[in-house]
Amino acid sequence: MKKVRISASREYDVLVERGLLDKSGQLIKAATGSKKAVIISGDIVFPLYVERLKRSLEAAGLETEVFVLPHGEQSKTLANYGRILEFLSEKRLGRSDVLVALGGGVTGDITGFAASTYQRGMNFVQVPSTLLAAVDSSVGGKTAVDLPGGKNQVGSFYQPALVICDPDLLSTLPEEELACGCAEVIKYAVLGSRDFFDRLKALPVSQQLEDVICTCVEMKRDIVAQDEYDRGLRQLLNLGHSFGHAVEACSGFTVLHGQAVSIGMAAITRAAAVKGHCSRETLEELLGLLQQYKLPTDCPYGLEEMYSASLLDKKFTGGKMHLIVPEEIGRCRIEAVAMEEIKDWMAAGGITG
Ligand code: GLY
Repeated sequence: MKKVRISASREYDVLVERGLLDKSGQLIKAATGSKKAVIISGDIVFPLYVERLKRSLEAAGLETEVFVLPHGEQSKTLANYGRILEFLSEKRLGRSDVLVALGGGVTGDITGFAASTYQRGMNFVQVPSTLLAAVDSSVGGKTAVDLPGGKNQVGSFYQPALVICDPDLLSTLPEEELACGCAEVIKYAVLGSRDFFDRLKALPVSQQLEDVICTCVEMKRDIVAQDEYDRGLRQLLNLGHSFGHAVEACSGFTVLHGQAVSIGMAAITRAAAVKGHCSRETLEELLGLLQQYKLPTDCPYGLEEMYSASLLDKKFTGGKMHLIVPEEIGRCRIEAVAMEEIKDWMAAGGITG
């Protein structure tokens, strides 16, 4: 079993091994000492994996209930958050019991937020079932729900007690979802490792899943250890997200997060090349790898629409947005850009019309 230890306000392990789902009960019991568990999962994941997780928890002596959410970003609402809290209360869970998120980023985010606030904080475990959640959202303690005005507008930093990553769960992912995870994987390579970028070029992610997950989690571990609360270095993890969130909003969340991040990375790197922050070759290499993983690189929305959507993003602080700008493969910088200059960056990134 591969193990990555995360050091933040709470220390915990990310465990990576095929077949781990059936051992989760013992692992969760050992990490939390809880007597009762509630599993939160989306309606697609529910029929695939919930029964096995429930069985494993019950075999470890945990009384277990299940709460199912409709899938998709549209579910990450205050209303569903409230429903989860009421369910916990109805089932008489206490702070020492455990909430287990079995699913992708949406499930992990809303479950983590419920865990961080129910009775001022209860045990929480992440069991990612998408590549995107395995390499990024399940680690590092960001939890949130959306508001009609924007994504992740309400949330907290709340670290899980454990992350259990069973790569076998990713075998049922539709191709499009796997590609979305690959966008986040490519993000890590552009941020911090030329060698990793070359490995992604040479061999499909699906053929090196465990190594890819561990490499991304280790990179995230190093960033979170230095900046858990996202005040500086951690902002690097938003590469492609500033414009990406605007793409998601313009699409009414029909463009998936990973696809939007891909479009966002392509746009910011185009702008970086135009403005002389990186070479044309760096841009071509990035576009090539995104296309190799069948990810979109062109923004389907116009400049005015994208600009309006970006104004709602919480990434604006003090009238500035922190754009993550690639300088070369493996190195990016944080650029504080005034609100009135964002349009110019978008236009340089090929967002026109
Ligand atoms: N997903 C970006 C972060 O955890 O900071």
